[in-house]
Amino acid sequence: MRITAIPGDGIGPEVMREALRVLSFFGGRELKVDVAHAGRTAHDASGHVLPEITERLVLDSDAVLLGAIGDNRPGDYEDGLRPETALLALRKSMGCSINLRPILCTAQPLGSRYGYAAGSDILIVRELNGCAYYGRPRGTRLVHAPSAIVPEGFDTMRYSDAEVRRVARFALEAARHRRGMVLSVDKANVLSTSRLWRDSVASTACEYTDVHLEHCYVDSASVEIMTRPHDYDVVLTGNLFGDILSDQLSMLPGSLGMLPSAAVGHNGRGLYEPVHGSAPSIAGLGVACPIAAILSLAMLLRHALGWHAEAAIVDAAVERVARALPEQGVPYGKASSASTSEVGDAVMAELRYMS
Ligand code: NAD
Ligand code: IPM
Ligand code: MN
Repeated sequence: MRITAIPGDGIGPEVMREALRVLSFFGGRELKVDVAHAGRTAHDASGHVLPEITERLVLDSDAVLLGAIGDNRPGDYEDGLRPETALLALRKSMGCSINLRPILCTAQPLGSRYGYAAGSDILIVRELNGCAYYGRPRGTRLVHAPSAIVPEGFDTMRYSDAEVRRVARFALEAARHRRGMVLSVDKANVLSTSRLWRDSVASTACEYTDVHLEHCYVDSASVEIMTRPHDYDVVLTGNLFGDILSDQLSMLPGSLGMLPSAAVGHNGRGLYEPVHGSAPSIAGLGVACPIAAILSLAMLLRHALGWHAEAAIVDAAVERVARALPEQGVPYGKASSASTSEVGDAVMAELRYMS
């Protein structure tokens, strides 16, 4: 088994260090870990946000664990210059069209502001290879306004029936193994892509009479799910809405620093990464919460390697640590006042205690 670890930018290397410590706890098995670079760090070193060597390692590996990518500089308009284009290219070339983002509120820090969410368990199933993220044409151009030539930017939001059915089927199957409910989120009152989305989801669901399907507009869904999280099970949505909803719902367990994700697809290779980004304002301070990265590793162990017992131990260790995290310092993004390595130490101690 081969894993490629891409630490990336900002807090990426800091949280990756803790995730790799956890991985080393399960050492002594047939596992090869290569470290590769992408994003701003790679661009500064090699002139490319996604160097060829990284692409090759990724395609040769069974799974990829990624820290975070992103450190934009003014004027980085061109696709090849922005660090995020490396991430988008990886998701596409790996065929990772389905993004699983579990929002599990068992491990809520003590006294979290959203205490009412305790016990809720939502799985966001986000389409990851389409929408306005990849649609063509896109770009900037000069246009003639009445009295001047002015610049404008444009993107294309696009979904095909086949793309929607693929992710819908995945969400419906997932619901079958959970509580049997899917909420499909769109903006069908305004967008053509969303009207197609709604029709394609509904007709795919005809084969799943045991699953209860509802549709909701994204603006309304953002309030409904936050206020009644226990009423929801699988939340199925497109690339753009899924991006926004997942940051918002990270408030339920208490912090963006605690949300893992898995991007999976048709060729069996997955990309495992925290939902959060490179958090430039706290990079280098040693205060980033590594829980999202450690839980992403647990998803990798479970889905890519089939190490179910090991993944369950990591989940349980993190849950015990998260329960003990003090409430002060749970503003947006922060998980606790503990440092990155202190949280990592606590997880390692729990792993040793439980094994
Ligand atoms: P961000 O997720 O990096 O940060 C949002 C807020 O959450 C900030 O206050 C940050 O300090 C905090 N935060 C994030 N992760 C944290 C952690 N583990 N522990 C404690 N606090 C944490 O979002 P942003 O500031 O909008 O984006 C910064 C850069 O990251 C951008 O370039 C963006 O494109 C990129 N990004 C990358 C990924 C990825 O690599 N998967 C995901 C999201 C954003
Ligand atoms: C995420 C991020 C990415 C996205 C960016 C960095 C391209 O926000 O994974 O949530 O929008 O998908
Ligand atoms: Mn995001």
